[in-house]
Amino acid sequence: MLSILEKRPWPVREIRLFASRRSAGKTVRFRGRNVHVAVLKPGSFVGVDVALFDAPGDVSRRFVSQAVREGAFVVDHSSIYRMEKGIPLVVPEVNGHLVTPRTKLAAGPNCVAIPLAVALAPLARAAGLAHVTVATYQAISGAGVAAARALYAEARGVLAGRPPRSTVFSHPIAFNCVAHETFEKEGYTDEEWKIVGEIRKILGLSQLPVSVAAVRIPVLRGHSMAVFVETKKPLSTGTARKLLARAPSVVLADDPKRRHYPTPLMAAGKDAVYVGRVRRDIGVKNGIVLWLSCDNLRKGAALNAVQIAEAALFRIRAKM
Ligand SMILES: NC(=O)c1ccc[n+]([C@@H]2O[C@H](COP(=O)([O-])OP(=O)(O)OC[C@H]3O[C@@H](n4cnc5c(N)ncnc54)[C@H](OP(=O)(O)O)[C@@H]3O)[C@@H](O)[C@H]2O)c1
Repeated sequence: MLSILEKRPWPVREIRLFASRRSAGKTVRFRGRNVHVAVLKPGSFVGVDVALFDAPGDVSRRFVSQAVREGAFVVDHSSIYRMEKGIPLVVPEVNGHLVTPRTKLAAGPNCVAIPLAVALAPLARAAGLAHVTVATYQAISGAGVAAARALYAEARGVLAGRPPRSTVFSHPIAFNCVAHETFEKEGYTDEEWKIVGEIRKILGLSQLPVSVAAVRIPVLRGHSMAVFVETKKPLSTGTARKLLARAPSVVLADDPKRRHYPTPLMAAGKDAVYVGRVRRDIGVKNGIVLWLSCDNLRKGAALNAVQIAEAALFRIRAKM
């Protein structure tokens, strides 16, 4: 979040950093200055224009309303407010118009829903969506910094000749694939239900049929997904490629002859959603298949939050 903010032309007069008690008192560099990390308390947001929350859901539940009350425009990236009526769930390239000068709180979507919406929006506009099927291949950093460290520790153990050991999930993550493990109704995980609900809300298609399977893989950074799109009107692969190449935040990486297609390593540390392997779905009539990779920590989380805040600041300034 900070490295993104440092590079964007925000006229930051003051930045306040908050974390848990564990980090209180540490200093972090921002634009050449040391900034102290503090814990949240009443008054923390007084005088703050924009508050970006990238904390566990219970922290958002406790402090987002305080931030709004104390006058900040809040972007919350937890799942607490995403599906609440009246709170916009925003991917700026797709539905940024929902952020108005009156908006006090906007939610940032799940790290799968963001790149999926970025890739689906141009296809939806051109040909309508009849059905979307998505299978995800999600990086461990999507489960937070502790899980990312656990992948290293588990992998070191296996490479040292010890048997695989599970430390964050019920099964090992190193050299393995796991489900998201919070199983809910009909055997789908909470992650899978989030993807279904959020993609419908972002695209404004409340009845869109969505089939989903979400899987965590031992990749550090960069979520990937195989996406099967059935359109209402026929859409050629050539047109789909052109639409995607022109779409904001999409980089088309699609040259099978040169074995050029998205990978998590290609996307890691970058801002774009990399889309490739655009091909006809041989199993249905009006079907297109895509493969995409996106940095879950940047466009999938922090960058999207910063872009929402920019949309708000731009509109507030335009009104002044
Ligand atoms: N990782 C992703 O790809 C991703 C994508 C989209 C959305 N999200 C959402 O973003 C949020 C953060 O996820 P993450 O993956 O970044 O988790 P994380 O790596 O575990 O980081 C959580 C952060 O919250 C801070 N925190 C914990 N308790 C706090 C408190 N009482 N007051 C203030 N700060 C507190 C932690 O501070 P300390 O360092 O002091 O512990 C840490 O900086 C979650 O709601 C998650 O669902 C994550």
